[in-house]
Amino acid sequence: MSTTLIRGGTVVSSTGRTDADVLIDGELVVALLAPGSTLLGHDLASSVGAVIDATGKYVIPGGIDAHTHMQMPFGGTEASDTFETGTRAAAWGGTTTIIDFAIQRYGERVEEGLAAWHDKAGGNCAIDYGFHQIIGGVDEFSLKAMETLVDEGITSYKLFMAYPGVFYSDDAQILLAMQKAADLGLLTMMHAENGPAIDVLAEQLYNQGKTSPYYHGIARAWQLEEEATHRAIMLADVTEAPLYVVHVSAKQAVEQLAAARGRGKNVFGETCPQYLYLSLEEQLGAPGFEGAKWVCSTPLRSREEGHQAAMWQGLRTNDLQMVSTDHCPFCMKDQKEMGIGDFRAIPNGIGSVEHRMNLMYQGVVTGEISLERWVELTSTTPARMFGLYGTKGLIAPGADADIVVYDPAGHTSIGLDKTHHMNMDYAAWEGFEIDGHVDTVLSRGRVIVDDGSYHGSAGHGSYLKRGLSQYLI
Ligand code: URP
Ligand code: ZN
Ligand code: ZN
Ligand code: ZN
Repeated sequence: MSTTLIRGGTVVSSTGRTDADVLIDGELVVALLAPGSTLLGHDLASSVGAVIDATGKYVIPGGIDAHTHMQMPFGGTEASDTFETGTRAAAWGGTTTIIDFAIQRYGERVEEGLAAWHDKAGGNCAIDYGFHQIIGGVDEFSLKAMETLVDEGITSYKLFMAYPGVFYSDDAQILLAMQKAADLGLLTMMHAENGPAIDVLAEQLYNQGKTSPYYHGIARAWQLEEEATHRAIMLADVTEAPLYVVHVSAKQAVEQLAAARGRGKNVFGETCPQYLYLSLEEQLGAPGFEGAKWVCSTPLRSREEGHQAAMWQGLRTNDLQMVSTDHCPFCMKDQKEMGIGDFRAIPNGIGSVEHRMNLMYQGVVTGEISLERWVELTSTTPARMFGLYGTKGLIAPGADADIVVYDPAGHTSIGLDKTHHMNMDYAAWEGFEIDGHVDTVLSRGRVIVDDGSYHGSAGHGSYLKRGLSQYLI
């Protein structure tokens, strides 16, 4: 087994920072040592297999992106990143675990959907991965199959209040699934938008000749996110099911979460970098068909209305607990272009899995969040929320050596011809400048990225059987 010493850095956790050397043996962290420690009189540097100099740098637990959609069929096409390309891109950006969504639709069996996801991911991932289960058709079979999920290491599942005819569940179905989840200890993840109302508005806009990507954002009004968030909270309350609302983008939805949390409810929320930085006016409203690059749901929202500032605030006040990407990339050519002349036909999704750690670090630079909160939002809370903590989400003896050496004096220019490893023909984050740099990435003790070169391999990543959430009140 190889040993590695990460020497001279500042180890940052969700609760503090300390100058320490990190000793790794095989796949695990075995010790945090005072800087320059010797062991029984031996200079550690000469006794270990490899030394990584982290002087002046942050040493943080590897990122956990708890919301990705690799190879997801959507809108007549499929998300363009495979598990191989998507996890490689994630590794480049300092993410060492993803949790992707296995899919079940109406008429399909959960067991088959899950098996298909194992087939897609198995042997292809560069980093460790787990699954949530999408239940897109709540019926007697899927409700029964929920009973098997915990044994499969899947302790969270997603329902949709949006996308009628695709993944949509009505209130009765949601109630039934939540009752089951409450019994089983599963965490219910909710896409909270009023899909039937959105579809009516979208059709009306289309019939008025309002067909450009901008109108995707108009049809998906914040009121319909607020309303669905409120309804989800109430359905969860009546069933006593814990609730995690995904990809929150509306200020008013955060207010709903905050109010429920104020009443002591087990209600949590995630936002994504796109809702912190991008807007209806600047991106969705870009000239011509450009805005299609940023068509995702929930949609980018108006900066004039203050949604982005409210997301940052929610991250500070802990009314939002996590930042995931909702990575669901589609190329412009042949994919997004399906919606030229009809925004309803643009496949929904943005690719960000490579950039989440950097984009969130920029929030540290600009004073939106603290260094510790950066680690908490991107690694520690995802681990706790989704039953991985102890193995993932921290640097401590016994934890997996999933570690990023991050250089605050470095710089990252994001762009298609610069840092871009996702399988997309455009960069949703083109032109973003980050005052920091992912230098070295270790996955279970193995260096997979080091100063601009990639040493990972498809199949290194293992499937993670997750435990029950460690975050509930
Ligand atoms: O636009 C999005 N978010 N695409 C992925 C599917 C989902 O709703 O998360
Ligand atoms: Zn969703
Ligand atoms: Zn999603
Ligand atoms: Zn560097």
